[in-house]
Amino acid sequence: MVTEEQREGRAVVIEARGLTKVFLDFWHRPKVRAVSGLSFDVYRGEVFGLLGPNGSGKTTTLKMLLGLLYPTQGALRVLGHGPRHVLTKARIGYLPEDSYLYPSLTCEETLHFYGRLFGLPSRERGRRVEQLLEMIGLRHMRHRLVGEFSRGMARRLGLAQALINDPDLVIMDEPTAGLDPPGRRQVKDLILTLAARGKTVVISSHLLADMEDVCDRVAILYDGRFRAEGTVAALLEERRRVALTVPAPEEGELQRLREAVRAVTGVDPVVEHPRRNLEEFFLEVIEQARRETPEVSGALAERGLADYLAGGLRKDGGSREGQKSGDTARNG
Ligand SMILES: Nc1ncnc2c1ncn2[C@@H]1O[C@H](COP(=O)(O)OP(=O)(O)O)[C@@H](O)[C@H]1O
Ligand SMILES: [Mg+2]
Repeated sequence: MVTEEQREGRAVVIEARGLTKVFLDFWHRPKVRAVSGLSFDVYRGEVFGLLGPNGSGKTTTLKMLLGLLYPTQGALRVLGHGPRHVLTKARIGYLPEDSYLYPSLTCEETLHFYGRLFGLPSRERGRRVEQLLEMIGLRHMRHRLVGEFSRGMARRLGLAQALINDPDLVIMDEPTAGLDPPGRRQVKDLILTLAARGKTVVISSHLLADMEDVCDRVAILYDGRFRAEGTVAALLEERRRVALTVPAPEEGELQRLREAVRAVTGVDPVVEHPRRNLEEFFLEVIEQARRETPEVSGALAERGLADYLAGGLRKDGGSREGQKSGDTARNG
């Protein structure tokens, strides 16, 4: 979690002011006002989420950040330059909504292809490709054609492709869409790890539970405008109520506790067992089944993060990661 104090003096990675995009029709008449007057900042090491229903302007906003679309109005700086600056482009990784992967390349060839686009020398490229294949759990699929991949496998490969240039800013459009629960969990863990390593991550999604687990701050888009914005904690915390959690008491103790609470607050407390969420339970069942049947054909990530992505940064992950995993444990 990035607090206000930590944000003070932190490097601003994205500065958007009054960002607006109007799509024109064939006759250059305004047709769709996709994004209207968005202003926001994203800081280094932060995970910023754009939430919104289909058609609310998420992809359009991300494409402006990437320099793929010109804003109709507004000012935008990304990594200290305009979004189309070559220096900016080289430091951004992008996972598009639909990964545009070449079906006739193999998994491994795909990563080498993107590595060459970024001008990586062949040894370094080979090293990164190995680490990425391991990270996304597709090492055993390296010689398979991408055209034969399931949607989940293609999504993972898209993610690896977005990280080949060791970007400082990673922009992901619906990164968890179309993945099964273990795949979603892996992508979420990867996002948290990237952020803990000082990378800045901007994601869009309509999958609210996933966003809640990974985002420091979210903005809710509807019809091209922000309708709410803030830290997940500030937006969701019910400040007018508290929950006390204690080991399950005996019947008599429970009665005494109730009376004590009533004596202090004047109202009866709500007593219930805290619940884990379904995702957590599901993953536990799958993990158990996997231990009992070790040979499975699906993709399984073998390790958290490619070493080169962690290069030069704190190895311990720092307090932020600790804080995050605490949050995740609480949320489920
Ligand atoms: N190239 C385009 N030309 C015209 N309208 C577009 C274009 N791209 C997106 N739009 C429109 O802009 C709005 C926002 O789209 P988009 O940013 O893709 O939303 P989201 O990613 O939130 O689903 C939609 O009404 C969509 O139809
Ligand atoms: Mg979209």
